[in-house]
Amino acid sequence: MSGVAEAQQPSLISKLFRTKNLDKILTDAENQEHKLKRTLSAFDLVIFGVGAMIGAGIFVLTGAAAAGSVGHPGAGGALTLSFMLTGIVCSFCALCYSEFAAMAPISGSAYTYAFSTMGEFVAWIIGWALVLEYAVGNMAVAVGWTGSVKEFMIQNFNITLPATLTSNMLDTVESLEQVKDPSILINAFPFTIPFSDTSMYLLLQSAFNLPAFIIVACMTLLLIVGVSESARSAAVMVFIKTGVILLFIGAGALFLFGGNMHVLEHNWFADGWNSFAPNGFEGIKTGAATIFFAYIGFDAVSTAAEETKNPQRDIPIGIIGSLILCTILYILVTTVITGIVPLNEINKEAAVVGAMNFMGYPWATFVVGIGAIAGLTSVLLVLQMAGTRIFYAISRDGLLPEALSKIHPKFQTPHICTIMVGIFVALGAGLLPINLLAEMCNIGTLGAFIVVCLGITILRFSDPDRERPFKVPFGLTFPLIGMLGCIYVMSGLPMVTWVVTIGWFLLGMALYFGYGFWNSKLNQELPS
Ligand code: ALA
Repeated sequence: MSGVAEAQQPSLISKLFRTKNLDKILTDAENQEHKLKRTLSAFDLVIFGVGAMIGAGIFVLTGAAAAGSVGHPGAGGALTLSFMLTGIVCSFCALCYSEFAAMAPISGSAYTYAFSTMGEFVAWIIGWALVLEYAVGNMAVAVGWTGSVKEFMIQNFNITLPATLTSNMLDTVESLEQVKDPSILINAFPFTIPFSDTSMYLLLQSAFNLPAFIIVACMTLLLIVGVSESARSAAVMVFIKTGVILLFIGAGALFLFGGNMHVLEHNWFADGWNSFAPNGFEGIKTGAATIFFAYIGFDAVSTAAEETKNPQRDIPIGIIGSLILCTILYILVTTVITGIVPLNEINKEAAVVGAMNFMGYPWATFVVGIGAIAGLTSVLLVLQMAGTRIFYAISRDGLLPEALSKIHPKFQTPHICTIMVGIFVALGAGLLPINLLAEMCNIGTLGAFIVVCLGITILRFSDPDRERPFKVPFGLTFPLIGMLGCIYVMSGLPMVTWVVTIGWFLLGMALYFGYGFWNSKLNQELPS
């Protein structure tokens, strides 16, 4: 008898790759003690998706992606093609997310989908990748938020915020390398501390990005108070930013159709393909990798599945609806910028404002500035919420301490989890530079997208009869193209990002083998 029992003992490998049955996942979520409130509608979810997407990608990164920067060949007018290409790759992934979310309408998104198809270990890795996407991505957006506020204050009120409180150490090291005599910079600082070494003085004085820290703290508080309150605030911000984007597109159309179409013809076609795509396919590909950041967020809709009234129908509407809407807006915005402003005159920090000035609407500086700040704020809010829902799902499975999944008795939100993610994001945003953060976020997101496409593929074989309220059409063609597309975009990311990301995953493994593996509820429930 004991021999039989021994023979049945699962090995380490089988424990790591043991999957959680989808039906069990659904029943557990339904029967759990800590439950989220179902308040969101299809409209809320489209707002949620647009809220997460339109932000730093379109307002901050577009100019440099079109005109190019050091080591990044510009795409020129062909950035419109970069947006189309990335939009198409994302749409395959969006379809897969929709199929999964409709089948398993619960909080954990790709983490939960991986748990049901590829087992606990892969699920943990993907959960860890999603933290990169939502938490580290949000750090990047918070740093971009400070940049937008700084630009807004200078352009509209001629007020320069002190560099001491709006930058971080690594950025300062970079500027020290660029400025031969750092003592020039010292005049920019409001306090005087008797430091003999100017570089050390600058480093100590510019260790923290305070506005980024404060805005993340505010979003965290809002998320603790309530999901409906957060959704309402996001809706106001989405309304403002979408209004500004539409105003911009309208102004561009008036300019072009009001007798200036020759400007676009000249900028795009004066020298044939060379004008449209000055760096050929290389520029289009680099542009696609950069502006991939603008698409991040549609998948966040799936993390709200457990708080949606009719998730089977509404989650696919939310994901696909917001992706289509943003893709159209992005292509039109890029057409206006690159069609109207000559490449060498594009404002790389604020391309939308720059194009408005170029068309002769300097008053728009204020309006577009407000739109950009509202846009980045809504991204912060939605990604912050998505990040906490991933932690919530992971801790519910015992892979992180269960206290994290406690729900506040009055607000009915996962407050402990929200505070923990808030502190993590606020500190990272205060201390780290935007480029590294954005690129790490891209890797995490692409990794999650690949796993979702792979999961759909696996489940079509392992569980073909399951009811699929939403099904990706044309068999496995789209999931496979989605996977290949993501791998292609990933291959364009720089080596340094890969190195830091590998470090991130080693930390994740240490946490899993130090805590999660031993406390996993699934492992406790099954024979050991
Ligand atoms: N898509 C989001 C943005 O562009 C992350 O800010």
